[in-house]
Amino acid sequence: MDADNAEATGSLIVVSNRLPFVLKRDEKTKQLQRKASPGGLVTAVAPVVVRGKGYWVGWPGIHLEDPNEAIPESDPSDRTPTAGLLSDKVVAVHADPAVFDSYYNGCCNNTFWPLFHSMPDRASFSAEHWKNYYTVNKEFAQKTLAALEKVSKEQGPDAGPPLVWVHDYHLMLASNWIRQSAEELNLRCKLGFFLHIPFPPWDIFRLFPWSDEVLQGMLGCDMVGFHIEDYCLNFVDCCQRRLGCRVDRKNMLVEHGGRTVRVRPLPIGIPFDRFVQLAQSAPKVISSSTKIVLGVDRLDYTKGLVHRLKAFEMLLEKHPEHREKVTLLQISVPSRTDVKEYQELKEEMDQLVGRINGRFTTPNWSPIRYIYGCVSQDELAAFYRDAAVALVTPLRDGMNLVAKEFVACQINEPPGVLIVSPFAGAGEMMHEALICNPYEIGAAAEVIHRALTMPEDERQLRMNYLRRREKINDVNCWMKSFLKAMGSLIYEDGEETLP
Ligand code: G6P
Repeated sequence: MDADNAEATGSLIVVSNRLPFVLKRDEKTKQLQRKASPGGLVTAVAPVVVRGKGYWVGWPGIHLEDPNEAIPESDPSDRTPTAGLLSDKVVAVHADPAVFDSYYNGCCNNTFWPLFHSMPDRASFSAEHWKNYYTVNKEFAQKTLAALEKVSKEQGPDAGPPLVWVHDYHLMLASNWIRQSAEELNLRCKLGFFLHIPFPPWDIFRLFPWSDEVLQGMLGCDMVGFHIEDYCLNFVDCCQRRLGCRVDRKNMLVEHGGRTVRVRPLPIGIPFDRFVQLAQSAPKVISSSTKIVLGVDRLDYTKGLVHRLKAFEMLLEKHPEHREKVTLLQISVPSRTDVKEYQELKEEMDQLVGRINGRFTTPNWSPIRYIYGCVSQDELAAFYRDAAVALVTPLRDGMNLVAKEFVACQINEPPGVLIVSPFAGAGEMMHEALICNPYEIGAAAEVIHRALTMPEDERQLRMNYLRRREKINDVNCWMKSFLKAMGSLIYEDGEETLP
């Protein structure tokens, strides 16, 4: 099998469930406004789309009565990377609200999310949701094709083929349709897919009744990227066992439909320098004199929050010397609040925090400070910087960027300690962190104790290595490796060399 067919690539078309900003309607003026999303992926990818005069296809975060209503330009005060993304380069995908709900809350978040995180008991399998996933993916494919037609006209025949980059579990069917339609219309393009969550082993994946269609959809691409090698191997395995594809595990190649698809581990990073700058300038927000053990997560059952609180409770029980000296600061960002599982988790967390605080609180101290809400980037950087320990203990996680953001912000000397779960992609590569199995509550309590009592020189040594790795492998490095793996010339050794 030979997949070494690199050639120059033109503009970048990004396709993701969410646009890199959300639209909100001003209550007074009734005008639409853009609200920037501060994520690292957007920071890295948006400038490449803008420079290459490409497009971004996605859902605007709001259902519009009139789908032709114009998307506004960004506010002049907007300094985020998406500010340069002009409205004529944004393709908003619209769907009937009930269809979209069934696709997003149903199939994406009630089926693929738990299944791909190896929690099949939480997954529901519904033909109706699958039908709507199909419909919405078709819509995304059609909108992408329209963008591809525009780019091809705008750039002319001498430019390299546009690169279409499809993201995540929401859009696993779209690529194959984009490829087929592009071939029919004689439009050149290269297709890449990146999955931001784990890809499960065959024994889990096979539970999905329409798993063959999912694989065929992804194999429409020239290259499929995952965070770590394990997920790549799972995918290759599933292609072989479900579709009977010929595969090459050593070179990570899958043959399908007369083509060879590359499969690559591309671990995502964060905008490291931006977090360092934020940590340098952010004012202090924690006034507590106790040591802070920090957790920052979307409120999601994959994050192991209940296990974490129980481990902290066990720490206070087994090591009473930490009482009144240590506080767990847990920030839980509301997420997917329309899904029952998430509503139930909120209830469970509220009760658990109440019970543990009721058990240990003294007149001058409460063991847990619990924030259910969003915090600003400045506050977040200050929390990361001033925490003694970060607890990143998901039950399963594609990568987990909190672990990386924490180490970037550890600019104080001596630094704090990172505890990470081996079941997160980050746990596979951040070897100098303390590794903690979140399922083993007693052992997890001992790991927290070890972190709180670790000598300064050991903390420093571990953190130096962790920071060095994340600085080099930042989000720009991730994006460049993706483009390089696609044989793109958009970036060449850090230089922009667009035609
Ligand atoms: C995960 C997914 C992203 C998603 C994010 C937030 O990180 O990989 O694609 O955007 O969760 O979830 P939401 O459902 O709010 O988009």
